[in-house]
Amino acid sequence: MSQRELISVANAMVAPGKGILAADESTGTIEKRLSSIHVECTEDNRRDYRELLFRTAGIGDHISGVILYDETIRQNGADGTPLVKVLQDAGVIPGIKVDMGAKALPGAEGETVTEGLDGLRDRLAEYYQIGARFAKWRATISITDDIPSTYAINANAHALARYAALCQEASIVPIVEPEVLMDGSHTAARCQDVTEATLTALFAALDEHRVMLEGTILKPNMVVSGADCANPAGVQEVAERTIEAFKRTVPSTVPGICFLSGGQSEIEATAHLNAMNAIGNLPWQLSFSYGRALQASTLKAWGGSAGNVAQAQDVFAHRSKMNGLARTGDYNASLEVA
Ligand code: 13P
Repeated sequence: MSQRELISVANAMVAPGKGILAADESTGTIEKRLSSIHVECTEDNRRDYRELLFRTAGIGDHISGVILYDETIRQNGADGTPLVKVLQDAGVIPGIKVDMGAKALPGAEGETVTEGLDGLRDRLAEYYQIGARFAKWRATISITDDIPSTYAINANAHALARYAALCQEASIVPIVEPEVLMDGSHTAARCQDVTEATLTALFAALDEHRVMLEGTILKPNMVVSGADCANPAGVQEVAERTIEAFKRTVPSTVPGICFLSGGQSEIEATAHLNAMNAIGNLPWQLSFSYGRALQASTLKAWGGSAGNVAQAQDVFAHRSKMNGLARTGDYNASLEVA
């Protein structure tokens, strides 16, 4: 793939009115999601749930791409059609999670570094053959009074940059995801400081590793208060702080920023994105790459029963549309009423 093609995929991922569905939960994580609706975590149940999402009528109207897990990218639907083909036929770009998870960082109590670089070149080549046109690598940064350390921020930035360079070599658009976690009682101001430090280190590393930013998508946290913060920031403050943090740190050559939801409710995640796009006048597309905030109500509506599939797909189509509207600041909470 030429540079031009990488750029074209990256731009398609953040096309107007559309965002990304993160359906790349590892087996351990999807087990937690399924057990919340009392569904056993079998390969067939994982398949049935994801197939429900991917076969939603009009999925391509508001979903540009789906991040898959290794099992899913190799899986066939109930009728034998590869799930990758189901997505392609719906005009949705298949992507793949390639990191191997956040592991304890030696010498840094409470901090992690994401693993998965060894053998990545060969895995990317195979995923490209299967149909993946973008990938995801997630680093996690925790906040307490004492962390993050510069050591942890830099170790994660370095791994993200090594990953991104390998992706572009393999003609795959890298989603770089440095997630500053919401756990803790810290303020939004503290989250903003840590987010800015993390993004500054990340873009320095991407530059050093000769990563082409025009063919790269950033998947960050929003600047929000910790989940246990006594005085959490409201929607407008979150929007203003997030945009301020990005304007200070994210080059305008990055085509798009696709937020993770990170534990926000569906409505919060949509309202925050909407408020940012309502401010407008931004050098990048501001979009979504939600996991929980696109799936929570759909998962509940399905409840593991084949008889609920159509209703669950309506719920998913609604959630996708609401986030599509948030791409232009046209979302309004009154649209949530059925
Ligand atoms: P959440 O939106 O549930 O945070 O998931 C997005 C994701 O892909 C995290 O890596």
